[in-house]
Amino acid sequence: MLNPVLSPAIFSMTALTANTTPKPDSPYNRQDWQRGYQSQRHETDYWLEADEIVGEIPAALSGTLFRNGPALFERGGQSVQHPFDGDGMVAAISIDAGRAHFRNRFVRTEGFVAEEQAGKFLYRGVFGTQKPGGWLANAFDFRVKNIANTNIIYWGGKLLALWEAAEPHRLDPETLATLGLDDLDGTLKPGESFAAHPRVDPACAFDGGQPCLVNFAIRPGLSTAIALYEFAPDGQLRRQQAHQVPGFAFIHDFAITPHYALFFQNPVAFNPLPFALGWRGAAECIRFQADQPTRILVIPRDPQSGQPVRTLTAEAGFTFHHANTWEIDAETLAIDSVCYATFPDVEPETDFRQINFAALPPGQIWRCQLDLAQGRVERRQLLARCCEFPDLHPARVGRDYRYLYLSCAHSPSGNAPLQGLLKLDLETGVTQDYSFAPTGYVSEARFVPEPGATTEDAGWLLQVVYDSQRDRSEVVIFDARDVTSGPVARLQLRDRIPYGLHGCWTPHCFVR
Ligand SMILES: [Fe+2]
Repeated sequence: MLNPVLSPAIFSMTALTANTTPKPDSPYNRQDWQRGYQSQRHETDYWLEADEIVGEIPAALSGTLFRNGPALFERGGQSVQHPFDGDGMVAAISIDAGRAHFRNRFVRTEGFVAEEQAGKFLYRGVFGTQKPGGWLANAFDFRVKNIANTNIIYWGGKLLALWEAAEPHRLDPETLATLGLDDLDGTLKPGESFAAHPRVDPACAFDGGQPCLVNFAIRPGLSTAIALYEFAPDGQLRRQQAHQVPGFAFIHDFAITPHYALFFQNPVAFNPLPFALGWRGAAECIRFQADQPTRILVIPRDPQSGQPVRTLTAEAGFTFHHANTWEIDAETLAIDSVCYATFPDVEPETDFRQINFAALPPGQIWRCQLDLAQGRVERRQLLARCCEFPDLHPARVGRDYRYLYLSCAHSPSGNAPLQGLLKLDLETGVTQDYSFAPTGYVSEARFVPEPGATTEDAGWLLQVVYDSQRDRSEVVIFDARDVTSGPVARLQLRDRIPYGLHGCWTPHCFVR
């Protein structure tokens, strides 16, 4: 029921600093970074003028980048306790024939509409935002506000805004108007959730090589229910299964091979009492268990296979996002993930804007090799650089791959805001990177394959960058073969897009 990471550091509310004066040699400035967390209430749509496009949009690049993320951080003079409690705003950047169009809309969820009318918070946020009135007004209020702020996908002809603790919202891809909750043609029962991290198997072994969308749902508790769903390109449900695993689970993401779905059950404990009594948000009741292992769950994707769910253990750590996983052989899997040494406590009554990045562990890339026959896990670090938001060529999802793309901090060590783009060659270990420091702050980058190309890094990387000096955002386009040279085009937007979470690229261009 918990939400994802935008920057490794903002999860911690414990590492605050009294010193707000930036160091002169620092690649970032906390006051500049904070400006990217101002609400964006302006909804607009426009074609970019020629002078708003710096460089040249690649002629072969055509389609739409959909992005989602929280964009409303206060109501009635009250700030959200954590940005992940902010209502979701979707942005669509459509590109065709060298031109670009921008559109943004809030998702009109039931809670968003009601709170807009009331002018104040009516729901508790998972990350600690409380209704006005103190703990008495919040005690025993277990209603969930579906804020639709984490991801957006286009599948089966539907554009769906996702938030992992509730149903998807369907949007009109042309206008971004909210059409309502979507139960995936009856797959989800009322109130059932659908995770915000679906994976697309580019050539499903069970469906004659057709692509399929794989996603999961978590129902946490003393033991945790994990449901797995697989959908054909037309949106029809192909396969479905459910399992019960021991213990509370905070699982935000997963990964797939052609035959398995892999989950990391992070070592955390959840004490619901302070949440029930209205003292804390749900995420503030989670505590990292450093003396417990990470449990790696390996679930066969074919419900008819007869294979059991296997559980392996690795040393304690915390993972939100996986990069990729694949089958080395029938009994050996590998999985690359962004791992943190700990999950920092989310403390109440603190201001997320006053974070001390340097006091927190960075997200780093680790590879786990899983020996299913022996039940052993070998773990090694691939990249020490602080990073998040992994992406790769969509045809390599679930397969051995060479190139991994990440949003990264400017400096090679330590935890810091994400300010750059990094390409890691997993075959040679060589990296390419480009930094927007000291004034630029980045969100997730998406890899877009060049149509007809066969090499793995032939394509582009699209990334939203917040320019803290102009208080506006840009959509930058890199040639993925040469990240170091910087963007080949910069689409200078007229407003700020607050730091976002996830999104997708589709070759459809929806602007009329
Ligand atoms: Fe995520």
